[in-house]
Amino acid sequence: MATMRLQKALAQAGVASRRAAEALIAAGRVSVDGQIVRELGTKVDPRRQVIAVDGQIIQTEDQVHYALHKPSGVVSTVRDPQGRPTVRQLLRSVPQRIYPVGRLDADTTGLLLLTNDGELANRLMHPRYEVKKEYIATVRGSVSDSALERLAAGIELDDGPTAPARVRRLGKSAGATRVSIEIHEGRNRQVRRMFAAVGHPVIALHRVRIGPIRLGHLPPGAYRPLTPDEIRKLYQLVGL
Ligand code: URA
Repeated sequence: MATMRLQKALAQAGVASRRAAEALIAAGRVSVDGQIVRELGTKVDPRRQVIAVDGQIIQTEDQVHYALHKPSGVVSTVRDPQGRPTVRQLLRSVPQRIYPVGRLDADTTGLLLLTNDGELANRLMHPRYEVKKEYIATVRGSVSDSALERLAAGIELDDGPTAPARVRRLGKSAGATRVSIEIHEGRNRQVRRMFAAVGHPVIALHRVRIGPIRLGHLPPGAYRPLTPDEIRKLYQLVGL
């Protein structure tokens, strides 16, 4: 475990020179794991602790970015009060403090991104950047063209109308239809509520793409680091 003096960690992260970092600490502007620290010699482990200056978290470790194929029954949080398995447990061998970018319902499967770059994660989730997410929904019944048109145009939900979506029928089987739906909003259970609103409850929901990142053939429960090209595209997408 690499512990170091707080002022060194700040300097290494490019926040300020060692001397200027000492002044920030003495002024009570630096916190470690949420607690203001004024003691200059304080030892920290920048890989495991959250260091902030004026409440802004600083990047003290290498940035990492992963794509995970979330299986059903696993929650998209780092910890679950009900003790259900979490996505963090699937990436047990990743030492960094990584967070999921947004959430999938416990019973939704497919692509979830995890990163330790908080700014990237926030922007990917922020409605302003309109990051497109594509899902394959298996829904009950035979979905008509007019239902598809309503979904595409935007429909009224409890929390307001949905933005236009791209929808495409992929196929039908006994009593069910498979539909690709691309949305850029991320409201709670949005896709499920949209289909329920047109009379076709979702049987299974699977996310296959977030912006330029595709799930591809990653098996359920497996994860992979994003490629340099994917990382570049993600940052570009949200203006970083
Ligand atoms: N929409 C939903 O309804 N559920 C998800 O998990 C993601 C999008």
